[in-house]
Amino acid sequence: MVKKTIFSGIQPSGDLHVGNYIGMIRQSVNLQESGEFSDLIFCVVDLHAITVFQDPKVLREKNLELSALYLAGGIDPNKSKLFIQSENPDHTYLAWIFDCFLNMGQLFRMTQFKEKAQKFIKADNLSSLAEARALFEGPVGLFNYPALMAADILLYDTNVVPVGEDQRQHVELTRDIAEKFNKQFGEIFVLPETRVDRDAARIMSLQNPLSKMSKSDKDPLGTINILNTPDEIREKIKKAVTDSGSEVVFKEDKPAISNLLVIYSRLSGKPVEEIEKQYQGIGYGQFKSDLAEVVVGSLKKIQEKYQVIKKDEGYLNKVLNEGRDFSLEKSSQKIKEIKRLMGLGR
Ligand code: AMP
Ligand code: TRP
Repeated sequence: MVKKTIFSGIQPSGDLHVGNYIGMIRQSVNLQESGEFSDLIFCVVDLHAITVFQDPKVLREKNLELSALYLAGGIDPNKSKLFIQSENPDHTYLAWIFDCFLNMGQLFRMTQFKEKAQKFIKADNLSSLAEARALFEGPVGLFNYPALMAADILLYDTNVVPVGEDQRQHVELTRDIAEKFNKQFGEIFVLPETRVDRDAARIMSLQNPLSKMSKSDKDPLGTINILNTPDEIREKIKKAVTDSGSEVVFKEDKPAISNLLVIYSRLSGKPVEEIEKQYQGIGYGQFKSDLAEVVVGSLKKIQEKYQVIKKDEGYLNKVLNEGRDFSLEKSSQKIKEIKRLMGLGR
């Protein structure tokens, strides 16, 4: 087998939702089962989560909750490694090196930063990006977050990064860092490739199909969380906005129904076209109630597995210890090479 590595991460902040599951975990499980990769590494990126305040007690719990959800969602410790980012200090070590390497302009262009920075800019009308820079009063970590993400990816000679569309720009920046570094110090980093599930790259809010489903959405009706109860799921789908007309079709001018179709498709395993045919002439009502049962059914399986894993602390710890040791072994080799090339230490 050609040696090929996958790396991806999820922040243990907020509640994992169907967007995360479809956009990242399901996609990763498919790659895991494809047999195409020799090393598959998944990470609970708690150091990324603290770019905004996290309650310490909650963060600890979320680290374990997310680890168990990865496994319940199909990440198989016999084929993949799973670890918690903060348990491997090499990530922050390399992030510092990249901090000294990236320029501020590159970081200011990151869409996720621009979105998250809004909250820390105390002005309603910004006339320019320059003004936004001057007025940003948020944490530095929120700004240089891509340096840490690049470190996560480049430490492991990652070939493929399965993510949702919102992370594409960060992976592009990671490639730029790798290229620049290789040129300056010698060929050491592999250039990673982004892998998104084309139609499911952006699962949208059930309340606003023009904005993505997000952990930080204030409206609970907009997101379906993996651990929602069947009644909550049914209510959210019943109240989901739809488009004008009544046809169940995937079309650009029908963003709400298209989004529901993608969720239906990915959770049932049926292609979108087949579902469109199934609902020809039937209308939204029946489609939505069937969709609710598809979601309830597929999340039920994950939830049942989650309950078993979550209770088995010994098992979860064993998986996370193995993942940590594996990651440390790989990353420490890489750091050694980097230090040599850069002239760090003795
Ligand atoms: P985060 O919640 O930001 O830690 O995201 C974890 C993973 O889920 C990343 O790969 C994201 O790109 C992906 N993701 C987050 N929200 C969505 C969404 N609404 N649709 C598809 N993928 C998503
Ligand atoms: N930035 C990603 C997000 O917010 C999480 C993440 C951190 C990640 N490090 C990564 C994703 C490395 C892929 C690879 O969703």
